[in-house]
Amino acid sequence: MQLVLATNNEDKIKEIKHLLDDLPITILTRDDFLEFPDVEETGETLEDNALLKAKAIFEFTDIPALADDTGLEVDALNGAPGVYSARFAGDNVTYKDNNLKLIKELQDIPDDKRTAQFRCVMALAWSEDNIEVVNGIVEGVIANELKGDKGFGYDPLFYYPPSQKRFSEMTTEEKNIISHRGKALQEIRTVIINKLNNLL
Ligand code: IMP
Repeated sequence: MQLVLATNNEDKIKEIKHLLDDLPITILTRDDFLEFPDVEETGETLEDNALLKAKAIFEFTDIPALADDTGLEVDALNGAPGVYSARFAGDNVTYKDNNLKLIKELQDIPDDKRTAQFRCVMALAWSEDNIEVVNGIVEGVIANELKGDKGFGYDPLFYYPPSQKRFSEMTTEEKNIISHRGKALQEIRTVIINKLNNLL
């Protein structure tokens, strides 16, 4: 069985491959294709965008496609940046730009009100009309300065109290055990294993 990752984000590819690598499937990425569409995220929810990306890449490759759409939902900002997490500080910005904007938006918020969660929605398109959707959530606290050099995106600000560490201070293995993406991927593993068993 082949599975194509419907993302252009190298950081996500690394984490996803890490958790699916031991399955008896061939994981393909954009690098395995001469051309690969850049699917515009025009949906209003994470689920809309995950479905959009999985469908578009399945249609382009004719191979089962796995998409991930993730948002950081900050309680003091009423759930923002949410579906707009990649564009929080504007179009074509860096992870650092988004992090600095988040620090600024939360500058007057006291420690006990800086709670947030990452929400990851994954869609696995087996065909155009057979798409499985799963979710993963992890709760944490937004710090007020950047720290750590691992992970990506908002990880340098995302403190996970049970580990007393930020996601940016964890290896891929550690992060995958507890993260939003790791939880969603555990469900995706079950979906894939069931599919493989049905094919036998
Ligand atoms: P999207 O799912 O490609 O729309 O990504 C949304 C944005 O959320 C990314 O640009 C990152 O800044 C951020 N993001 C997604 N996943 C993670 C994660 O695991 N840790 C930290 N930030 C993340």
